[in-house]
Amino acid sequence: MKKSNSELETVLSTGNPSWLSSAVFYQIYPQSYCDSNGDGIGDIPGIIRKLDYLSWLGINAIWINPCFVSPFQDAGYDVADYLRVAPRYGTNRDLYRLCREAHKRCIRVCLDLVAGHTSIEHPWFKASCRHRKNRYTNRYVWTSAAISDTDTGLSVIRGYGEKDGNFVANCFYFQPALNYGFAEADPDKPWQQPVDAPGPRATRRELLRIMDFWLGHGVDGFRVDMAFSLVKNDPGRKETITLWQDVGTTIRRTYPDMVLISEWGNPEESIAAGFDIDFMLHFGVGGYPDLMLNDDCFFRRGGTGIADFLQSYLGLAKKTRGKGLISIPSANHDIKRPRSDGRTLGDLKVIFTFLLMWPGVPFIYYGDEIGMRYLPDLVSKEGGYDRTGSRTPMQWNGSPSAGFSTAEKALWYLPLDPRKNRPDVAGQSDDPDSLLHHVRTLIRLRKESPALQAEGRLIPLPVDENPHCFAWLRQAGGERYLVAVNPSNEPAGMSFDALNAGGVRSLLSKGVKARIDGQALRISMNGVSSGVFRLD
Ligand code: NOJ
Repeated sequence: MKKSNSELETVLSTGNPSWLSSAVFYQIYPQSYCDSNGDGIGDIPGIIRKLDYLSWLGINAIWINPCFVSPFQDAGYDVADYLRVAPRYGTNRDLYRLCREAHKRCIRVCLDLVAGHTSIEHPWFKASCRHRKNRYTNRYVWTSAAISDTDTGLSVIRGYGEKDGNFVANCFYFQPALNYGFAEADPDKPWQQPVDAPGPRATRRELLRIMDFWLGHGVDGFRVDMAFSLVKNDPGRKETITLWQDVGTTIRRTYPDMVLISEWGNPEESIAAGFDIDFMLHFGVGGYPDLMLNDDCFFRRGGTGIADFLQSYLGLAKKTRGKGLISIPSANHDIKRPRSDGRTLGDLKVIFTFLLMWPGVPFIYYGDEIGMRYLPDLVSKEGGYDRTGSRTPMQWNGSPSAGFSTAEKALWYLPLDPRKNRPDVAGQSDDPDSLLHHVRTLIRLRKESPALQAEGRLIPLPVDENPHCFAWLRQAGGERYLVAVNPSNEPAGMSFDALNAGGVRSLLSKGVKARIDGQALRISMNGVSSGVFRLD
């Protein structure tokens, strides 16, 4: 949205757009969400159809995985045209309409910006491969052909194209790295161009042009793929940080309300770079203690305590306070869903109580709100490999196609969870005790009080008494809330002195009781339980 009214221009104390304070994001993997035209692949009109559902759930921002023209060797993270929606998802007009329809429901739309690399099918790359010099020759990183020059710590692909050289790839071989230059360009290696050389400067301008194009058509921001990776040989990511500061400052002049979300995995760096939000992923990227996936993580029935995670989180929160926000997503398209390795819907209620009552910005991966399972052992689809099991079609209802598509089964993007008792939206919306309703109630509570939102103060209560459960306070503007979770099988009790609470009111409880006893606050918890209380 362009600068248009004063509400849109307000910022948080972090300097981030104010709408982020109450934002609850929902990540949509477009090919698996809702197929509107019966070809077996989800599409943008399908997403539009589901906006009322998202609105009912309380979602006010979505992030859509890449939906641009692509050969789909890495599910769209191999872009062949940044400015055109892939025909399998619809048209640009559909995407513009999605923005308009979403805005009518106060839902913001963020796209996935694959800033670091393209597909080998991108016309820029095809031109760049040519022997004859042209305007795209320096759009990518090409080493000289000499083998010794490839000793760079970069992933170098040999034997491609007419050129007497090798190209640098970011992930898969078919994802050639765009040339944003080298921070420590070696003068003996002329192919390592400084960041201010004409080639890298032209790439940066092109990035701004792409962002401007989509923002001008109503998009509200971007999740930036591998945002940390742009400048090569960049110790401490200093030049990459400077690059993003420059890009962010320039684009915010026209779109002050836009958000930038990084896949960086180091909030200290990414927020200094001007991103509004960075992910603290629970698989421990960046060395963070894992919260949800390992065998011995906190959210396992027999898991360990939360102390390590907490120490790490509080350290990061301190470094980024007042500057940007941290997100702990429920999952994403690259990792296992929380409903994996035998977890029940009851376990997920505890996890969601944590995620939605925590500071920063929650991101719900499509289907996690109903407890869709990770499906192991699926045949890899579009470069998914073991990630494929987190990318299966959304389960809308109890019909054989789960309401995902009218196409015959063989055409579905991926198979559905074959279990008879697979969860679905229709079933859970009819059941007030379902995970879906639990998530919806938590979102409603979050929206009702700034104390429970992005910047509400977090006060962890001492954890040493029982390492398997954990309680914390959230506080803002004279309001105070208590949240308690017990992911273990064992009932537990916690008692805290001197909270100065006159009364405690239950707002949502799945097996937790809290009461004031003289000067003490006493909490008793069943196994696998969670609760949210207001302290008066
Ligand atoms: C991170 C994305 O999340 C992942 O799905 C993709 O394969 C790589 N970046 C490469 O773009």
